[in-house]
Order: sequence, then C-alpha cells, then structure tokens
Amino acid sequence: MRIPEHLAELGRKRIEGFPVEGFVYGEGPEHPALMLVGEAPGETEIHNGIPFSGRAGAELMKSLDFLGLTREQVYITSAVRSRPYKWGEKRTRDGEIIKRTYNRTPTKKEILAHAPILDYEIKHIQAPIIVTLGNIGLQRLAGNDKKVTQIHGQLIEQPVQYLRSLEDKSYHWTDRSYKIFPTFHPAAVFYNRSLEEKLMEDLNTLKRMIKKR
Ligand code: URA
Repeated sequence: MRIPEHLAELGRKRIEGFPVEGFVYGEGPEHPALMLVGEAPGETEIHNGIPFSGRAGAELMKSLDFLGLTREQVYITSAVRSRPYKWGEKRTRDGEIIKRTYNRTPTKKEILAHAPILDYEIKHIQAPIIVTLGNIGLQRLAGNDKKVTQIHGQLIEQPVQYLRSLEDKSYHWTDRSYKIFPTFHPAAVFYNRSLEEKLMEDLNTLKRMIKKR
C-alpha cells in the first residue's frame, strides 16, 4: 500500500520550516504479517526512498530473518517521514574542519506534523500486531507514559493516539484497540550492545506469537 499523494503533500507542507529533509513513504502490503513503526528516516533512506535501508535497516533485516519473515511480508513505516537533522562539525582526514548534518531524534512538533500520515496507515493497514521500534513509535501510538525499557517484549492491547482534526495540537484515542508489541529500535542495539540479549528475548516471544496465529 502507498498513501495517497495528497496526504504525502500534506505531510510535506506540515513539516515545512522544521530542520528536516526528504520524504520517505511507508512500504508493504495492506495485510502484512506485522506492521513496524520506527522513528524517522536517516540519510540512506532519504537518498533511496526505502525505509530502513541503512545501517539500522540491516540490523532490522536480521531480526525479520530470525522471525522467518521477509521485508515484502511486513509493512514498514515510522512516526516521522522526513530526516530530522542537526548541524555539526567533523574533522576530515587532512585535518580540515567541515560542517555536516547528523541525524537526531524528531521533536514532538515534527511527530505531530506527520501524525495524519501514520494515522492513515494505522487505519488502512490490517496488521495482526503493530511492532514499535524504540520509544518514539511506541509513545506516538500508545502515549508518552510508555517506556520501551519497561514494557519491551510484552504485548499490549489498547487504543492508539490519532489526530481528530488537522488543527489539533493534541491526540485523541481511537475507539478500537490494537495489539502493540514494543521492542527496541535496531539502531539502539549497535549503540548499546547489552541490549542485544533483550532484543533476542523479545524476538523469541514475538516469533511464538506469530506461530500461534
Ligand atoms: N530509523 C527509522 O525509524 N526508519 C528508517 O527508515 C531508518 C531508521
């Protein structure tokens, strides 16, 4: 499924003026085995337009492989569809200082700007389980009080947050409940290798859940 072009256009408009670049569409079938919700695309993704195709993506593909799934069987998306960046300095090999952009976590306002897009996907994608990758996806859907470190690997069933109108500055709860399985963002694992074991436990739990269905 691909979101309608007018919605992508709306997303581009709503995020104008924020330090972000590019626009990456969610990707996958309307009836996927899982729906995966990340944070925001990085540099690789905005260049090739494919969600989770950079370093975090490689880590995510290992997890999918472990679950016995391929990229084509899952719907992959994120809370924000443009790459949030910040400027920083880097010393080159010849000692020259150059300015470059670095990825950063999206802000609440950026997440709100792209909320109508994820809302549309949640409404139209019929996934048995929504897997949130990291705190951003989890909190966007299940509320700010949720912490991945506390509830990873546990299936929660609850309404999700959505924008009732485009003017809204805060979320409402959907009438229906969704099954959400929070786990770590794949990038968190290469910044903190001690999470690897916890991620594997989560994946084992998720694998059993998929098998039972
Ligand atoms: N992190 C995300 O949330 N999405 C991507 O596409 C890449 C990294």
